[in-house]
This record gives sequence, structure tokens and C-alpha cells, in this order.
Amino acid sequence: MTKFFSFNSVLSQPDFVMGVATSSFQIEGGSEHREPCIWDTFCRVPGAIKDGSNGMQACNHYDLWQQDIALIDELGFDAYRFSVCWPRIIRADGSINESGLAFYLQILDELERRGLKAYVTLYHWELPQYLEDKGGWLNRHTAYAFADYAGVVARAFGNKVSAYTTLNEPYCSAFLGYEIGIHAPGKIGKQYGKKAAHHLLLAHGLAMQVLREVCPDIPSGLVLNFTTYYPASKSTEDSQAALKAKAHFSDWYIKPALTGQYPALLENLPDAEKPLIAPGDMAIIATPMDYLGVNYYTRALVRAQPGGHFEILPPAPDVEITAMNWEIYPEGLYDLLLQLNQEYDLPPLFITENGMASDDVVQQGQIKDVVRADYLQSHLEAVANAINKGVEIKGYFVWSLLDNFEWAEGYLKRFGIVYVDFATQQRVPKQSALMLQDWLTQRHKPL
Ligand code: NOJ
Repeated sequence: MTKFFSFNSVLSQPDFVMGVATSSFQIEGGSEHREPCIWDTFCRVPGAIKDGSNGMQACNHYDLWQQDIALIDELGFDAYRFSVCWPRIIRADGSINESGLAFYLQILDELERRGLKAYVTLYHWELPQYLEDKGGWLNRHTAYAFADYAGVVARAFGNKVSAYTTLNEPYCSAFLGYEIGIHAPGKIGKQYGKKAAHHLLLAHGLAMQVLREVCPDIPSGLVLNFTTYYPASKSTEDSQAALKAKAHFSDWYIKPALTGQYPALLENLPDAEKPLIAPGDMAIIATPMDYLGVNYYTRALVRAQPGGHFEILPPAPDVEITAMNWEIYPEGLYDLLLQLNQEYDLPPLFITENGMASDDVVQQGQIKDVVRADYLQSHLEAVANAINKGVEIKGYFVWSLLDNFEWAEGYLKRFGIVYVDFATQQRVPKQSALMLQDWLTQRHKPL
């Protein structure tokens, strides 16, 4: 493992935010204090979650939040990105659950007391089940319900928040949840994915407008996931295939949010797969954002398939991979940031998630996650290089603070820089966390 950054790196500048991220369903537990969400239901589908687990307990952050925030502070981070669970706030009858708001208010107060910035995501995939029962993201009404909920949260949290994110990774909600069915609510059908995506984007735009009105001084934006797509060969077909993958999975979300237009592939979609776009929708979706959040984990090689289709190849046998079978490819983050900057008129960027899963084990009280420590360092270097090339990037959040519920993978994939023993709920910082702590606790000190 190489040494961390020199203190004159762009990442050591006092205004560069270094944070750590989590999401509500993945860590909270305390499910008896809220309405059910689509992930509670999905977890009960036999075979949906690899280890048959659910989010009822998770990391019991619902009870252990104070200790978890203390950890963030001790590790030296400036900021905490977490999400609010919609069905903890709005009941099925539409009333506001004050105790749900109080849960987050105590977290915000504790962060403030410790001088930590709060980056609050409003939707990290917990659609209330009562809305799914009415069609979920296939129902346009859900977008309006989301905007109402965003207003309730923003009014209650006042100026305790440093930035809001409307949605986290709408691609996952739409494509994984409503098209290929490997995420909640588990719907399968090409006729669903892009319809759900449109309502999610509309929800983002409507919520942006509410946030502008309620808290105009708090920066608000959207978090998208990006994989950098490269052609598997130099053939024209493979180059086109890579562009097609990018259009479906990345541009489909970023382009409307920044320009008010879907990629050209919209025209070629069969009618049954086209989103239902009402007049005025695209302008709402393109409500200007203060920042864009970029989540990056890996790259993908794309090969052309007969009939104009494309195939994403599994990582080559000789490359380094994570426990998710994702290639470790920091250059992909650098390439992505430069590409985005060239292609779009971007607002400032935050790297809102980056990290990796590994099969961590505790040995004599220590977790030697050397590969993760290297991963984080090489990706931070990619960020620094992109900044030096003129991309405006204001901060970086490690995914994740804790080992947690990794969706369809259950608790089998550990993304934390802090190890969680799920039987005892004991937390143990891994070597990667200690390495970051070394750097973080010194980087703002004058030389
Ligand atoms: C993106 C998601 O936002 C997060 O919930 C998930 O755990 C990580 N990627 C890792 O897959």
C-alpha cells in the first residue's frame, strides 16, 4: 500500500469536502416504527435476496446512530451523506409521522454539534408500499407525492442541511426495479423501465422546484450512477455498441436532467416502451441543479450483438476484481469525469459514492482490507487528476461507512470501511478507515 496524498494535493484544499455515505434501508432497521416499503415486500419473495435476509435490523443504526456519528467524526470526515426513509415520514393516510422527523432531527443536531455537514438524500429506493399498491413509479401521481414529501422534509429540517439530493440512482429504481426485476418491486418488462424512469425524473424536477421554494439557499441536485463504457474491440460495431449502452444507462438520465431532452434513441423505441411525456414535463425535469452527484464503481466493456443489440462483457480473467465481480479500474473514473465535462454544461460535481466490496475477515481484532485501501487511494487520485484538468469537483464520499444490507446480495457483500458484526452489532474500523483517518485528521491542519 502506498502512502496517502501530499498535503498540497487539490484534495487537501480546505473547501474540498471529504465525506462518507450510507442509506436508510441499508443501515437503519427500526422497521416497526415506519410504514412498510417496497423493499420489505421484495425481501419476502423467495430467492429475491441471496441470503434470504431483510432490512428489519440491518445495522440497527436506528438505535446506534449516536455511536455511528461519533465514528464519522473520529475518522476525520467533514460530511455525512445519508438518506431519509419516505415511509418513516408520511403515513399511508397522508399524515406526517412526527416521530420519524424527530429521528432525523436528532441526527442533524448531533452532526451540527460535531461540526459535520449533512448531505441529505430524499429517495434511496424506499418507495412506500401504499404507493406501489397504486402502481408505484408507473403511476404519474407518485412523482407529485414525492414532491409533497420533499416539502415536508425541507420545512422540518430548516437550515440544518448542507445539501439535498432528490433521488439516488434513478436508473436502479427504474431499470433494475421495473424492467429486469432484480430490485424492488421486482417488475419485469421492457414496457415498464422507461416509463418508470420518466416518472422518477419528473419526481426529481418537481422536488427541485419545491426545494427551490422552501430552502432556496440550500444546494440541491441529483445523484446518478455511471459506469464508463468502452468498446470491447476497435471495430465500428463495438464502438457503436458502447455508445448505445451509454445512451440507455447513463445519458437516459443525465441528458434530460441537464438539457430537457432524452437521447435520440427515444425515437427508435417501440411505442410500448416509450415513456408517457406530458406537455411541460421536460422543462420540469431540467429545473437547474446546483450540483450533480456522480456514483462510480467500475467500467464495462461492450460488444455488439446481432440485430443492433449490445452485450456487457464480464471482467477479463486477468484483471483485478472486487467481491461484486466488478473490475477495479480507477482510470474509468478519470475518463468519465473528463467525458462528462466535455459533453455537458455541468454544474459542479460531487463524487457521491465510490468504494468496493471485499470478503473481509477479523483477525486478532483487525481487518486488513489492503485492496480497499488501495482502491480508495487510486480513485481519489483519479479525482485529483480530473480536477487538475479543469473539472469542477467539490467533494468525495466513500461508500460506505458500514458493512450493510447490499440489496439483492443481502449481507453477503461488505462495502464498509467499518466492519459490522451483525450478530453483536459491534463496529470495528478496517485498515482502510484507519488509513483515511491518518490523512483526514491532518489534512486541514496548517503545516
Ligand atoms: C449504489 C447504491 O446507491 C448503494 O445503495 C449500493 O449499496 C452501492 N451502489 C453498492 O452497490
